[in-house]
Amino acid sequence: MMFFHFLKHCPCMFTFLIFTLFYTSTEAYDPLDPNGNITIKWDIISWTADGYVATVTMNNFQQYRHISSPGWSLGWTWAKKEVIWNMVGSQTTEQGDCSKFKGNIPHCCKKDPTVVDLLPGTPYNQQTANCCKGGVLSSWAQDPTNAVASFQVIVGRAGTTNKTVKLPQNFTLKAPGPGYTCGRAKTGTPTKFTTPDKRRVTQALMTWNVTCTYSQFLAQQTPTCCVALSSFYNDTIVPCPTCSCGCQGNSPQSGSCIDPSASHLASVVNGFPKNSITPLVQCTSHMCPIRVHWHIKLNYKEYWRVKVTVTNFNYRMNYSDWNLVVQHPNFDNLTQLFSFNSKPITPYGSINDTAMLWGVKFYNDLLMQAGPIGNVQSELLFRKDSNFNFDKGWAFPRRIYFNGDNCVMPPPDAYPWLPNAGSKQKVSFLALVMASLVALVLHAYS
Ligand SMILES: *[C@@H]1O[C@H](CO)[C@@H](O)[C@H](O)[C@H]1NC(C)=O
Ligand SMILES: *[C@@H]1O[C@H](CO)[C@@H](O)[C@H](O)[C@H]1NC(C)=O
Ligand SMILES: *[C@@H]1O[C@H](CO)[C@@H](O)[C@H](O)[C@H]1NC(C)=O
Ligand SMILES: *[C@@H]1O[C@H](CO)[C@@H](O)[C@H](O)[C@H]1NC(C)=O
Ligand SMILES: *[C@@H]1O[C@H](CO)[C@@H](O)[C@H](O)[C@H]1NC(C)=O
Ligand SMILES: *[C@@H]1O[C@H](CO)[C@@H](O)[C@H](O)[C@H]1NC(C)=O
Ligand SMILES: *[C@@H]1O[C@H](CO)[C@@H](O)[C@H](O)[C@H]1NC(C)=O
Ligand SMILES: *[C@@H]1O[C@H](CO)[C@@H](O)[C@H](O)[C@H]1NC(C)=O
Repeated sequence: MMFFHFLKHCPCMFTFLIFTLFYTSTEAYDPLDPNGNITIKWDIISWTADGYVATVTMNNFQQYRHISSPGWSLGWTWAKKEVIWNMVGSQTTEQGDCSKFKGNIPHCCKKDPTVVDLLPGTPYNQQTANCCKGGVLSSWAQDPTNAVASFQVIVGRAGTTNKTVKLPQNFTLKAPGPGYTCGRAKTGTPTKFTTPDKRRVTQALMTWNVTCTYSQFLAQQTPTCCVALSSFYNDTIVPCPTCSCGCQGNSPQSGSCIDPSASHLASVVNGFPKNSITPLVQCTSHMCPIRVHWHIKLNYKEYWRVKVTVTNFNYRMNYSDWNLVVQHPNFDNLTQLFSFNSKPITPYGSINDTAMLWGVKFYNDLLMQAGPIGNVQSELLFRKDSNFNFDKGWAFPRRIYFNGDNCVMPPPDAYPWLPNAGSKQKVSFLALVMASLVALVLHAYS
């Protein structure tokens, strides 16, 4: 119902439909990061009188999706009547009912504990390697050394052999909102550990792992960013499609926004209920928390230059360690990048048309909340590819992601044209729609 209501009010019904076709797939498949996942591995290090000591390691194998503050939380359901005697490097959010215990009281007696990371500055004797980062996990491409978290858990009433231990069930990963789906825990070959001097190898007594994958659709029902395009050769700025992330004021979910000219802006912002997961956006025609503007700035003989601006319209979020993923065929010849970092992403090995861009530490790695300083920008210099061409929108990006979420692009027939470029490329738009449908069908059957 909500959906049709939304359509009726949307002036760009066609764009919205096309996007929805892609968007309603709950499958966690990302063509730019086909093997991305978060793997949680449990290694039993020793048996105790009534259970075991395990090291739990979480690896973020996703190329460009990170977990930012306030961080991850991991949950599961015990298979038997296990309790957690103690934890190092993390803690459960609730102790639960431990009234049956006399003397030693467990750290947690809940059947379905939820574990969160400790904060930076935790005393050394309560730390483990890779703990205590407030639940922040970098992405694999940006910083593999910080894409891992670990903690130790001492489990009681659990069984003390690899035959009697039952694997925990129904793992959940929140980051901090929804989006991840975790598979079943599976026992695997025990992990081998090499001592720091590399002279001895030890091995876990038992190992199991769980794989969690992300779906943008599960994370939020509407997109979170959109793309605007412009060029030096045409005065038209093609804005984000209307209603990219919601329409103003006609549905309970997407209706509320803030007018930036309100006289007491701060108090208006504070008047809305506080909930850091739901964005509180500035009123715009697209209603997106994030807009990425790709402007073709200059054309030299052998090079061309693009200016990229990311604008935050969300009053409730400073995006720390933000990143962009941009797909454009000329990325194999990116010659220079000003004030952002970049790294090529090659999901299919040979095709080098995608790059991840992110801010420079302590300079623009924090994208401030909506307002006069809520934007970051950079310029990219490309050496012209043999296919280089300002016609038919070639110089515009094929796809843009912000923090791992796909941004809504203007429809190709709205792209700024070259002067004298003839009629609109209706045919190519139709071809694109057809190709997308074919790809979708193929994907569904593969
Ligand atoms: C998880 O990601 C790693 C690294 O990309 C990959 O080797 C592994 O096969 C993935 N696991 C699953 C279950 O997809
Ligand atoms: C338990 O240990 C035995 C002996 O080391 C091994 O053969 C067996 O595969 C292990 N079972 C599991 C479930 O890990
Ligand atoms: C795990 O989840 C499934 C499906 O939601 C449910 O049927 C099952 O009872 C759960 N198991 C436990 C131990 O909670
Ligand atoms: C997880 O376990 C499966 C099954 O044992 C194994 O194939 C896979 O390599 C393991 N993944 C990691 C990241 O340890
Ligand atoms: C963003 O950071 C600024 C400066 O540190 C701070 O004043 C502001 O409250 C932060 N906003 C949010 C939504 O956390
Ligand atoms: C991809 O292109 C970048 C930029 O030109 C280059 O630095 C990188 O080595 C290329 N990678 C591959 C795998 O070709
Ligand atoms: C662009 O990059 C590709 C692959 O890195 C290279 O083969 C080609 O020669 C480059 N083109 C130009 C014009 O530099
Ligand atoms: C610029 O592009 C728009 C399409 O976005 C087109 O309507 C307009 O005529 C173009 N302007 C010129 C001067 O070609």
